[in-house]
Amino acid sequence: MKKYFTVLAAIFICANLFAQNTTINPGAVWPDNNGDHIQAHGGGIIKIKKTYYWYGEERRKGLDTNYRYVSCYSSNDLTNWKFLGDVVKMQDPENLGYRWILERPKVYYNKQTKKYVMYFHLDTRNYKYARVGIATSAKPDGDFKFVKSFRPLGHESRDIGQFIDDDGAAYLVFEDRALGFHIVKLSDDYMSVEKEMSLVRKPLEGGAIVHYKGLYYAIGSALTGWNPNPNLSATSASLEGPWTEFKDIAPPQTNTYGSQSTMLLKVVGTKSTTVIYMGDQWRPKTQWDSRYLWIPVEIGDGKLWLPEPKPFTIDVKTGEYK
Ligand code: GAL
Repeated sequence: MKKYFTVLAAIFICANLFAQNTTINPGAVWPDNNGDHIQAHGGGIIKIKKTYYWYGEERRKGLDTNYRYVSCYSSNDLTNWKFLGDVVKMQDPENLGYRWILERPKVYYNKQTKKYVMYFHLDTRNYKYARVGIATSAKPDGDFKFVKSFRPLGHESRDIGQFIDDDGAAYLVFEDRALGFHIVKLSDDYMSVEKEMSLVRKPLEGGAIVHYKGLYYAIGSALTGWNPNPNLSATSASLEGPWTEFKDIAPPQTNTYGSQSTMLLKVVGTKSTTVIYMGDQWRPKTQWDSRYLWIPVEIGDGKLWLPEPKPFTIDVKTGEYK
């Protein structure tokens, strides 16, 4: 009898070890290679050769509250993610005090300096410090070490977004309560901000951009904290504008299906190009259980629309989704 149970237990452990996600299930628990719910909130994804790296806020239960953490996952199919660890474990870098804030980390790889440069929102608990922080690493999986913080071109900066154009140029999107939605170009080494491309005078955060068939599509959410709202999009032929009026990207009564934008991920394949809306479904009281809403968007001719979320598969080679 005992033997029988040992065999059963072994089968169970093996099945779990080799468990693969076959679909992306928007809004569901998303198990990583260890079976733990992915912790990459307010995150962003970059592709280096054939590997995707997903960085985000690590908010698992039981973290040491003196530190802030950023996690990193890798994947070759955008569906199964391997946990590479906490690539940031940072102590209050600038005397910000109790409940200081590190949010929305985004990582860029700089080919010239061969450094991974992480931008993040650095703040005090009352969100008045409003700066971006930079940490760098020689490897994608850390450790990232804090370098400095600043206000981009002198402006307040809270939520940040990341955009890398088809020509490889790197941009940062940031929200500034006083003025609106800024799109700025990073310097050659990515360690500072070079110039402003656009200032869209609209209070939008969770900013994200995609370049699709000759048009730039920008999306963002209203400023309602952890609560979802109807996210909006506008387009422009150039990052320097002019931008069209902002329009809904989903039926407004759904509040973007209960999510907030964090990135538009473009998957360019041999047959097709799919743009995936990446949103966070925040659970402020149980942040470790916040979910990810990924939706392949309907996009083209100036329109960006999120169909009702459904499980899907994505083929990163052909770029097709089902
Ligand atoms: C949201 C923002 C989040 C976080 C939150 C705090 O508006 O997008 O990143 O800062 O507010 O309330």
